[in-house]
Formats: sequence, C-alpha cells, structure tokens
Amino acid sequence: MGRPAFLFGAKPAMTLAGPGALASNLFGERAQRLKPGSANSKPDRMSGTRKLHIKSYGCQMNVYDSQRMTDTLAREGFVEADAPEGADLIVLNTCHIREKAAEKVYSELGRLRRLKEAAAREGRKVVIAVAGCVAQAEGEEIIRRAAAVDLVLGPQNYHRLPDLVARAERGSKIVDTEFPVEDKFDHLAPASRDATRARGVTAFVTVQEGCDKFCTFCVVPYTRGAEVSRPVHKIVAEAERLVDAGVREVTLIGQNVNAYHGEGPGGTWSLARLLYRVAEVPGLLRLRYATSHPGDMDDDLIAAHRELTALMPQLHLPVQSGSDRILAVMNRRHTRADYLAVIERLKQARPDMAFSSDFIVGFPGETEQDFAATLAIVGEVGYAGAFSFKYSPRPGTPAADRQDQVDEAVKVERLARLQAQIDRNQAAFNAGCVGRTFDVLFEKPGRLPGQLVGRSPYLQPVQAMAPASLIGDVRPVTITRTGANSLFGELAQPSAERAVAGPPVFETSLEA
Ligand code: 5AD
Ligand code: SF4
Repeated sequence: MGRPAFLFGAKPAMTLAGPGALASNLFGERAQRLKPGSANSKPDRMSGTRKLHIKSYGCQMNVYDSQRMTDTLAREGFVEADAPEGADLIVLNTCHIREKAAEKVYSELGRLRRLKEAAAREGRKVVIAVAGCVAQAEGEEIIRRAAAVDLVLGPQNYHRLPDLVARAERGSKIVDTEFPVEDKFDHLAPASRDATRARGVTAFVTVQEGCDKFCTFCVVPYTRGAEVSRPVHKIVAEAERLVDAGVREVTLIGQNVNAYHGEGPGGTWSLARLLYRVAEVPGLLRLRYATSHPGDMDDDLIAAHRELTALMPQLHLPVQSGSDRILAVMNRRHTRADYLAVIERLKQARPDMAFSSDFIVGFPGETEQDFAATLAIVGEVGYAGAFSFKYSPRPGTPAADRQDQVDEAVKVERLARLQAQIDRNQAAFNAGCVGRTFDVLFEKPGRLPGQLVGRSPYLQPVQAMAPASLIGDVRPVTITRTGANSLFGELAQPSAERAVAGPPVFETSLEA
C-alpha cells in the first residue's frame, strides 16, 4: 500500500497492480512503485475472466480510489493485470493538480489508442476509461481530444463503474461527472481479505474528501468539490476489517483531513476524536493522517500527538511559502508566524516529531525576497523532507488570471535552489538517525536475501537482516548507516535505548 515517499526519492506515476507501493504526499506527482500483481498480461479467453489494468496518477486519494475500483470490479469478474497489453478494461485514474500531471494522461492515451487498435484487429474490444480529477475537470473534452476513450467518470461516480463499463462494452461513449446524491462509499466494494493481504501491512482509509479552503492556486475545490466527511462507524468498520486481514498501520486520508467533521455517536466528531477511536481497534499498531492544513491543527489534535502512542510522530503539514505576502495572495489563511507556532506546539506535545511540507515556487508576484523567506523557513523548521513544485496556472483558479506571472526560467532556478536546501535538510535528518534505535514496522522482503524492509516512525524505509516471520511486526532497529534510498540497521534488543527523547540531532546548520 502506498506511503509518502518524500524522505527518499520515488518515481512518477504508478500502476495499481499489487502491494508494495511507495506513494507520494496527497497530491504529489512523484508517485508510486508497486510490485507486479498476480495476473499476467496475456488475455485469458479460456477462463472467461476479464482483465483490468488501472494506472493511478497523483495522490494517495487516487491510490485508495483505484483500489476501491479494483475491488468493485472484482465482483464483476475482473482480475487485475500489471500491464495494459491484453487487458479488456483500462482505467487511467488521473491527477489535475499541475499541468504536467494532466498532460501525462493525454500522452498515455495516445499509446493506449494504438493498443486498442491492435486489439480490434484481433477482434478484441478494449474499453478505455478516464477517471479522477482530469475527468472531472475536462469531461467530454477528453473524448473530443482522445477518441479512443469510451468512458469518462469523475471521482464521485466510481460506484457506478460496473454499470458504466457494461454500457461502454456495448458501444456507448459515456461521460459521468455529476456530483451524485448517493454516497459512493456505500456502493463501492470493500477489499476482500485476500486483496487486503496482498496489498501489505499498511493501508489508507479515506475519511474526508474535497476542500472548502480555496487556495488561489488549487483546483481541488473544483475537481473534488466541497468537504464531505464519512461517518465514524463506517471508518471504524473499515479499519477493523483491514486489521482483521493483517493490516498493522492505517493512514487516515483526505484532501483536507484535519477539517474532518463526521457524524459519530453523540454528534459531529473531529479528526482528533476519530483518531482516539481508531487507535482502539485491537491489533492496530500504528496510525497516521494526511494531508493537513495548518489552520485546522486544533488543540485536541495536537494533544492526540502527546497522548496516543499509536499516532506516529511525523506530520505532513504543507506551508507552500515562507512569505506572508505570498501566503496572503495564496489565500492560505495563515501567516508564517501562525505556521511556526503550530510546529512549536506540536514539538512541545511530542518532542520527537518530524515534519514534511509542500512548497510552490514562482507563485505570481513572488519576488527574490519572498523566495528567500521560503528558503529560510526550510532551515527554521528543519524538515525531514518536502515536495516542491513550480507554480502551474490551473484554468479556473484565481491565480491563473493574474498578470504578474513569474518567468519560467526564474521558476526553474528557484526550484533548484529550494530543492538543494530541502535535500540538505533531509540528508542531515537522516544522518542524525545513525546510532539511534527506532521502532520499525517490517513490511516486505528487502533488497538482499534475508533482509526485510520496514518503516521508521518518520516513514524512512529501513533495511535490516530479519526473518520473514517479522513482516507485520514492529521491532526496535539500531540505525547503522544511511543509503541513497533507505536507512540500514540491525535488529536491536527490546531493552535498547529508544528514540523517544527527542528528534534526530542535526549535524549541520540548516539555515539558508
Ligand atoms: N501549481 C503548483 N503546485 C501546486 N500544488 C497545488 N496546486 C498547484 C499549482 N497550481 C501543490 C501544493 C499542494 C501540492 C499537493 O501540490 O504544494 O500542497
Ligand atoms: Fe488545495 Fe488549499 Fe484545499 Fe489544500 S487547502 S486542497 S492546497 S485549496
């Protein structure tokens, strides 16, 4: 199952074909790597099963949605295939957050058109569906631009997939981007026990969708719509089912997860209250949530970081810019000082807390002085990792219409400087882990025979020699060195010094 991968690099776009994903932050394009699924890519006419290939772009919400689509179509007899060749149904689950993300979809559709034509020459029909935020934003324009597409469906309509696919198989072209009255989650199939096991010991649970914040650069409020929270009992039931099938770590996800306000016993529950409840699920070892808005980090949520041992001391808290002037025109509704105050309170609640963020460089009107403030905040917070992006004007958002757009060359140069600063912080954070002993949740076999790979509380991949029987267990591991993509460590005795006293110690000055 996917996880944020900012601590070490990852690759673009993933294919939803099995366990072991390295996901990105909620909307990041650096995406996910998954192990090949169980089905091979050759057509299986004899058995009568149909093959489904889903390629997921962008955020963790899409990873989760792709899995729900896979589970729902499994009931219709579709089995997952790890490649589009030979598939009867191909779904691209798309991301519209930046122009580059959307353009990738069209180039992929060009490749799929040739594949569909080749299949047609063999007398085989391939249905191509575009789901996700590009589908929501562009609707029938997709079919105009890419005639090979049979079905376009928005993120709120996935529960209708079996019916829509059946109609597309009969030759209809369909666009379904309405926001329906019914709740898609009531109709999407849960993962089977086997599917959950195959996806590994960590899982996402969507608790909230949409956003009411309207940052001036962001398409999410338009593509995913207004904030909607799932009721507490459904989330708890889903977490219980996952844990029962072997999941040990659950990440509650939402575009604006800490704005969660779902119905629960006695009224409306906050994310904090939900975390306390989910933490009670027997057998659940670890809990995380993503992605949060600084303005919604309330007292109870901060207290949860002090009190809930299952809640991991790592938080993705995007700041976007270090400049108050830019934060104001971004409509972020917080200042640099507000943000730093939240970080400080979290550190007081949980001294070993580590942070990551998203940054945008070259927002309209950004001066060198504004950018210097962004560089400075990276050092001030001492991030364990961060995503950074060049501002990409999105049609329909207020910032796209501004006259003071920043030159591409300036954006490129600022992005390089910011990434270097982030990399220095990340390297220092990782170096500060050497010699310390962390709890590691072992997830799967590592690179070498006899090795397992797991995650530290801070989400770093950790490789250690350990028996396969420890997959799904949390064990103390002493970190011996850092590598390019992971930390290396040795199983420690349970009585060894534990990493509860404070955050890893930085070895270098991190100021810009
Ligand atoms: N241009 C560049 N980056 C963007 N993000 C959101 N919208 C844009 C845009 N128009 C970034 C923000 C957000 C992350 C998921 O993507 O940093 O937190
Ligand atoms: Fe987009 Fe801002 Fe909402 Fe995040 S908080 S999803 S950046 S509008």
